[in-house]
Amino acid sequence: MQEFEFYLPTKIYFGEGVIKKAGQEARRFGQRALVVTGKSSAKKTGALQKVEISLKEAGVEMVLFEGVEPNPSLKTAESGAELAKEKRCQVVIGLGGGSPMDAAKAVAVLSTNPAPADQYLGRNRVKEPPLPIIEIPTTAGTGSEVTPYAVLTEIKKEGSRKKILTDHLIFPKVALVDPELTLSLPGSITADTGVDALSHAIEGYIANNSQPISDLLALKAIKLLVHHLPKVMDNPEDIKARSYVLYASLLAGMVIAQTGTILVHGMGYRITSDFGLPHGRANGLLLPWVCEFNLTERYDKFALLAESLGEEVKNLSKEEAAKKAIRGIQRLLRELGMPENLKDRKIKEETIREFAEEIMQDERKLANNPRRATLEDIIKIYKRALRGEIS
Ligand SMILES: [Fe+2]
Repeated sequence: MQEFEFYLPTKIYFGEGVIKKAGQEARRFGQRALVVTGKSSAKKTGALQKVEISLKEAGVEMVLFEGVEPNPSLKTAESGAELAKEKRCQVVIGLGGGSPMDAAKAVAVLSTNPAPADQYLGRNRVKEPPLPIIEIPTTAGTGSEVTPYAVLTEIKKEGSRKKILTDHLIFPKVALVDPELTLSLPGSITADTGVDALSHAIEGYIANNSQPISDLLALKAIKLLVHHLPKVMDNPEDIKARSYVLYASLLAGMVIAQTGTILVHGMGYRITSDFGLPHGRANGLLLPWVCEFNLTERYDKFALLAESLGEEVKNLSKEEAAKKAIRGIQRLLRELGMPENLKDRKIKEETIREFAEEIMQDERKLANNPRRATLEDIIKIYKRALRGEIS
């Protein structure tokens, strides 16, 4: 059997109302907590007040760092860390979607390691243990509550780039995964973040770094998403379906914490930074085409994937069944209202080439992708996803 390693040092609480444990969990680490959150939604939905009350009851003082922007910059993380140091916070709580949760991780790092933040981008560059991190997701998709990744934006003269800080030291100590917090999410965010979770599960399942335990989690996550995401879109207040979607997102996060992602995520970052598409939607554009590119290397897995996506595969050959996985993915994306390409934007040949050249520098994503991609392969995939061109 395949040799593997599975490391997940995060204590997970899942269930309606578990946000109330914020205080008791924070108290284990100290008396002052920095709460990192976005612009306004945590306030509007009442999630922030719940955290505040819980901290107060446990005798923990709350220091608020709010206003984290989507795709948070290194500067934002540095400012958060300044505040944490000034107020001598002992624990960092990330409350919100992927952006505040990732920012919280970087803030925790910079609270114990000197600025500038860019020196910690990449893999295992953090020197001192960060402040303990507690994550409370309010969207169902990023899985950041159980991963050692923080995606941050580096702003330079030539443009903004999404960069990853990854280090086993930034695994959150605690994840409070509470479906009630996702009840008021608008449809578009539900769909975008849900597709991000789907992408995590599928990428992790076919990645070269996949392994037996993460495979189990990935297939379960995919089945739950296929079944429950459309239900949530039809009835946003269906707490049962919301719970399953959030659970699936958690499982998919556990998957990529072990496997990493492949070309879908690698190629999607520029679509987000240059065209402003939300992260999940950018992944959705690429997912069918990256899967199709990898089909020949993973017939067995794609055949199982097709089944998990609800496709009829009885009496089909392995190859035919595998092809159905692509159809299953496209069907689900369509059902969720994802765009099929960005044809209307008239994206130029040089832009696509530039994106593709950048990916060729990302050896980790290329190596984790089942089939080795050349520059021309990447260009082809981008052309399909962005311009709807089929060569
Ligand atoms: Fe993602």
